Parts: sequence; C-alpha cells; structure tokens
Amino acid sequence: MNNLLAGKRGIIFGALDERSIAWKVAENCHQQGAKIILTNAPIALRMGEINKLAAACNTEVIPADATSVEDLRKLLEQSQEKLGGKIDFILHSIGMSVNVRKNRPYTDLNYEFLNKTLDVSAISLHKLLQTAYQMDAISEGGSVVALTYIAAQRAYSFYSDMADAKAMLESIVRSFGYHYGVKNKVRINSVSQSPTATSAGSGIQGFDKFFGFADKMSPLGNASADDCAKFCTILFSDFSKMVTMQNLFHDGGYSMTGITESVLNA
Ligand SMILES: NC(=O)c1ccc[n+]([C@@H]2O[C@H](COP(=O)([O-])OP(=O)(O)OC[C@H]3O[C@@H](n4cnc5c(N)ncnc54)[C@H](O)[C@@H]3O)[C@@H](O)[C@H]2O)c1
Repeated sequence: MNNLLAGKRGIIFGALDERSIAWKVAENCHQQGAKIILTNAPIALRMGEINKLAAACNTEVIPADATSVEDLRKLLEQSQEKLGGKIDFILHSIGMSVNVRKNRPYTDLNYEFLNKTLDVSAISLHKLLQTAYQMDAISEGGSVVALTYIAAQRAYSFYSDMADAKAMLESIVRSFGYHYGVKNKVRINSVSQSPTATSAGSGIQGFDKFFGFADKMSPLGNASADDCAKFCTILFSDFSKMVTMQNLFHDGGYSMTGITESVLNA
C-alpha cells in the first residue's frame, strides 16, 4: 500500500531516538506521502537525535513542552503556517513518570511526582486537543492517536503511577472524541501497544523479563514499533474514517489471551 497519507499534514510528538515508537511513525507517515512536523520537549531536543529524523523526513522540528498550553498554541500556529493548512493528523506519543524513574513503589508515591506524571502523560492530551479545538486547527475528519498501555485496564505490579495516567489518557480519548466528533468529525483513538524496547519502555523495572513473558503470552508475539507505526498510519488515513473514541489493542492478541502453551512450558 502506497501513498495512504498523500496530501495530508501531520504533527508527530515524542520521537526521542531511533527506538522511539514516534520515530517509526514519523518515518512511515513520510513514506506514505504525508507532510509532517516533528516536536518534542525542549530538553529532549538537546540530544540532537531528532534532527537526523527531520532530515530524513524532509522537515523540521518545533520544540514544545506538551504541558504548556502556550507552547502548544505556538506549535499549532507554526505547523499550519509551515505545512500550508489545517492539520489532518496528530500522534501523541508522550509518557514520563518521575516516580518510575526514581523507583518509587506504587505504595510510596511522591504526590508532586504523581501530578507531573498525570500532567505529562495524560493531561497534555487534553491540553493539546482543547488548544486545537479552540483554534480550529484540525481539519474535518482529522485523526488524533495517543499511545497507551494495558495497565490502564489490569493491574501491573511494576507500572506504578503510569497505570493511572494511562487510564486518564484513555478517558480523555473518549470524552474529547465525543466533543471533537460532533464539532468537526475529528476522530480520537488510543493504541494500546505491546511492550517495546524504547527509552521509556526500558525504564520500567524488570522490562526484559516482562518483554519475554508478554511475547510468550501473545499468539502473534509482541507487536514491534514498526508494526505499530503501520497501524497508526491506517488510523490517520481515510481507511478508518468511522473509528473514534476507541482504545485499540495492538498487541499480537495478548489482551485476549488467558494462558499459552509457551508460558506453561517455559
Ligand atoms: N515502550 C513501551 O513498552 C510502550 C508500550 C505501550 C505504550 N507506550 C507508550 O508509547 C509512548 C511513546 O513511548 P516510547 O516507548 O516510544 O518511549 P520514548 O521514551 O521514546 O518516548 C517518550 C517521549 O515522551 C517525550 N516527552 C516527555 N515529556 C514530555 C513533555 N513534557 N513534552 C513533550 N514531550 C515529552 C520524551 O521526550 C520522549 O520523546 C508513550 O506514551 C508510552 O507510554 C510505550
């Protein structure tokens, strides 16, 4: 399938390095004919990796802290100017917990850190959508995708306050999906991805063991970041025009599996 996104303009949040899911999504959207703007928090840009991606995708990077409404407003304004019109699709691929980074267990959270987790990992989606809604920055039938994890539905011993952030993120997907659908047929969905060896993913305690377990628990095996990128492309395309307010599992069947031979025999 080629040129699925021909003529579309998009903004991709969250490409940090080559392992980032957003990195693969950006590459795929570019390959499929979209014009994109890349964005990340100013501090993440200091690593400089994202400039390589910008060169490969023939575009530029506009810094924005996703917790700052002012940054988001400027990003949406400048992106429309540079891309030459309203935005057709947006990827929200942002997650960060200081509690996880500092190995604070769920039963001993620091509440300032928790506020930060919720602001960065969930409320930033609301800020982005509300800013876009009020600026009328997304074109009719546009598509917004946020990345999430199954710890929003089930208890995962190691996922700490990120589980609460993902539950809130998925709720914002539903609630804003209603309002933006009614206003302008804008679709909003979340993609619940398999464990993936990225900077954020590998920061979770015991990630390697868990990655192997999830792989054995999934009839198709863990979904890769490349496969996730292809799925996001479909959600940005006109082939998913009537899909909105959904949490879509992209996990090789993990979420529907009780037990597997592979786990039993491990
Ligand atoms: N890796 C996994 O196992 C996995 C599984 C399911 C879902 N996800 C989700 O996928 C998304 C992307 O994560 P990833 O695994 O590609 O890791 P990643 O570390 O490459 O991406 C996380 C991104 O969030 C950005 N970010 C953090 N604070 C920000 C802020 N204030 N403003 C703007 N950007 C900010 C970081 O700079 C980084 O680019 C996250 O929502 C994550 O929770 C990851």
